Amino acid sequence: MEPIKVGLLGLGTVGSGTVNVLLRNAEEISRRAGRNIQICSIATRNPKKQRQCDLTGINLTADPYKIVTDPQIDVVLELIGGIDTAYQLILQAIAHKKHVVTANKALIAHYGNEIFTAAQKAGVMVAFEAAVGGGIPIIKALREGLAGNRIEWLAGIINGTNNFILTEMRDKGCSFTQALEDAQKKGYAELDPSFDIGGIDAAHKLTILASLAFGIPLQFQKTYIEGIEKIAQEDINYAYRLGYRIKHIGIARRRSAGIELRVHPTLIPDRRLIANVDGVMNAVLVKGDAVGSTLYYGPGAGSEPTASAVIADLIDVVRTLTSDPENRVPHLAFQPNLLVNTPILSIIEAKTAYYLRMQALDRPGVLADITRVFGENNISIESILQQEPISGEQDVPIIILTQRVLEQNMDKAICQIEQLSSIKGKIKKIRLEAFR
Ligand code: HSE
Repeated sequence: MEPIKVGLLGLGTVGSGTVNVLLRNAEEISRRAGRNIQICSIATRNPKKQRQCDLTGINLTADPYKIVTDPQIDVVLELIGGIDTAYQLILQAIAHKKHVVTANKALIAHYGNEIFTAAQKAGVMVAFEAAVGGGIPIIKALREGLAGNRIEWLAGIINGTNNFILTEMRDKGCSFTQALEDAQKKGYAELDPSFDIGGIDAAHKLTILASLAFGIPLQFQKTYIEGIEKIAQEDINYAYRLGYRIKHIGIARRRSAGIELRVHPTLIPDRRLIANVDGVMNAVLVKGDAVGSTLYYGPGAGSEPTASAVIADLIDVVRTLTSDPENRVPHLAFQPNLLVNTPILSIIEAKTAYYLRMQALDRPGVLADITRVFGENNISIESILQQEPISGEQDVPIIILTQRVLEQNMDKAICQIEQLSSIKGKIKKIRLEAFR
């Protein structure tokens, strides 16, 4: 049988990893796919640049449109990233009846609904395992492995750069900037690292996971996003002393009023497995009604781990090329005409526990005032840590952990506590989840 002909867009970190793994494991891959897979053409901005991979016999071009319109090509691998050009290229590829494999989380989160509709009409597949969790097969797990469950919630460490930075800050006491530079050198960070540290990259990924889990359209704009920029060394230390780790987490939870969709730093009890996922590693916890809690762990970024997911998709596409398009696994796990419009809750409607750090005058009655405000707002305190004053100082840090409460109640209480004459400045609020 003729080999499947692949056109690759982009020869960066993931693109070159994909070429290397496809060559190295060619025999095993074709035994799995049932066909040989041949990369025929690669579009790269600079075809003359020296590469870390063997490109013998592959046609190099600077024009990606030549690939997506080339009648010889069966499958296009979109590994250029970014939104606008990638969107146009994928639509062109679909219009030319090519299947597409992409690692582009931003594109799927923003335009996945349109792309999947176009693909369905054209009878082609758009596969995107590499878009979430790097090498972890989390899309496959949600879409197929857990298909019998009603998913209750999922929570993931889905940005390797942020996890790497938080881990380095805790383990080595190094600064935020040092850790970020190191993550960039290792090729984990996005081209614009503010996408990582600002939480946007994780929100792209959470948007995709939530659609697969609950059968809802992709709704990136409704995802609440907070990055890790405001996490101070002292918060990491206090959390540690109280038996918690701070992780940057994406959470999608089904509640009776709607779905919580939020990305933010989170305290997690250190005895939970997910709290011990360190460095660039990613992990996603999924709670299904039948299976209970399941945890998926692995490298969330990097050249060959991401290539691993791209190639798994490519093999999937090759295996199902000849199957009736109506009988393929749906792009978003649920049949496209049966997606539901469950409301996405705003952050003030979220229900979670909290870590609060405040600076208070060291005088009698301060704790009584604070606890009175909590009582009035129906908030239960889980624990309080009050530091000794540093000699000569009149104020002390107070750390309070609360039980679960609606965010709007917590915000109201924080506002009232900040007005107390014994409290100095603003209160630092970090959400806390026990993930039971
Ligand atoms: N910048 C991303 C991360 C790369 O750090 O997780 C993988 O999507």
